[in-house]
Amino acid sequence: TTVEWEAESYDMGGHDTYMHKEIHEQADAVDRALRGRIDDRFSTVHLGGLNLDARDARAVRRVKILGCGTSYHAGQIGAQMIEELARIPADAEPASEFRYRNPVVDPDTLYIAVSQSGETYDVLAAVQELKRKGARVLGLVNVVGSAIARETDGGIYVHAGPEVCVVSTKCFTNMVVSFGLLALHLGRTRDLSVADGKRIIEGLRKLPGQIEEILANEEQIEKLAGEYADAKSMMFIGRVRGYPVAREASLKLKEVSYIHAEAYPASELKHGPLALIEPAMPTVAIVPDDELLEKNRAALEEIKARSGRILAVAHQEQEKADHTIVVPKNEDELDPILMGIPLQLFAYYTAKAMGRDIDKPRNLAKSVTVE
Ligand code: AGP
Repeated sequence: TTVEWEAESYDMGGHDTYMHKEIHEQADAVDRALRGRIDDRFSTVHLGGLNLDARDARAVRRVKILGCGTSYHAGQIGAQMIEELARIPADAEPASEFRYRNPVVDPDTLYIAVSQSGETYDVLAAVQELKRKGARVLGLVNVVGSAIARETDGGIYVHAGPEVCVVSTKCFTNMVVSFGLLALHLGRTRDLSVADGKRIIEGLRKLPGQIEEILANEEQIEKLAGEYADAKSMMFIGRVRGYPVAREASLKLKEVSYIHAEAYPASELKHGPLALIEPAMPTVAIVPDDELLEKNRAALEEIKARSGRILAVAHQEQEKADHTIVVPKNEDELDPILMGIPLQLFAYYTAKAMGRDIDKPRNLAKSVTVE
């Protein structure tokens, strides 16, 4: 069955683009993803459609996440959350690549297909190939009743609501939140303690308010976008939890502004990309206040020593950065959900300053239903 979204969700509601509207809907969207799912009594979550009982959940030896574009990046964050909270080896891979390398399909691996539309051909074909080989495949999907939702053995609806802009924003955030829920659920069937379960639940509950805080800082982000819009190319860096955030932010900027952007783990800079750093090549650095803070600061120092301009997204002002966007701190594992949000606005305002067709970037379609 297909659930029709209400017509009013398509109203622009005073925003100049769907992208701007959808960025601003994120606190409500996250609230929807959490609603009715938290179980305080056992410090876990209920995910009704998962079709995975505790015995099945405990039998999972690996998790493999498949998606394309932004959904693949959400999967990369999801894989890290599952490893951290459930201690199950997990990784993400572009669905298109997975399908063509004749993958070893293992019955003890839980496969997860991630998709906003639920219709992306490469993801659907990967699901069908996995099913053909007898694998268990779950979906993490936004559009209810879509092809991927129908073909998977169960899954989680991310409940972001309709996303009209070709460029995904609120759906990405809700995908990552949904992975947080899944990681907590898997963790609590294993060794994640009640105390840690409670800590993550408290963190999840803080998200909508913290998203509002980030969005309230819009004016600063608009100004910064104006300062960097002259760049021909930008570098995005992060480490571990921050790296997929950097990749997604780089994709966002490319898609809407057409500015060339590269994303690297900060630790890889000295192995090559540092050669690109000069005043005309600004760096956007994801600098969470976690165990890698000092390492990230050292990377900023290296960039500064080559006269690179730096815009940091961090939990506190960064001395080496030219500008810092300060975001509220959550639990370390959940920080990636918040750190990319200001960079969605950064991409939006950069594209706006350049007069781009924000909701329909050239050469792109909202869902890619062909190979
Ligand atoms: C997102 O900004 C992109 N336009 C694109 O990468 C998208 O995420 C990708 O095509 C996958 O789409 P899906 O989530 O509908 O499967």
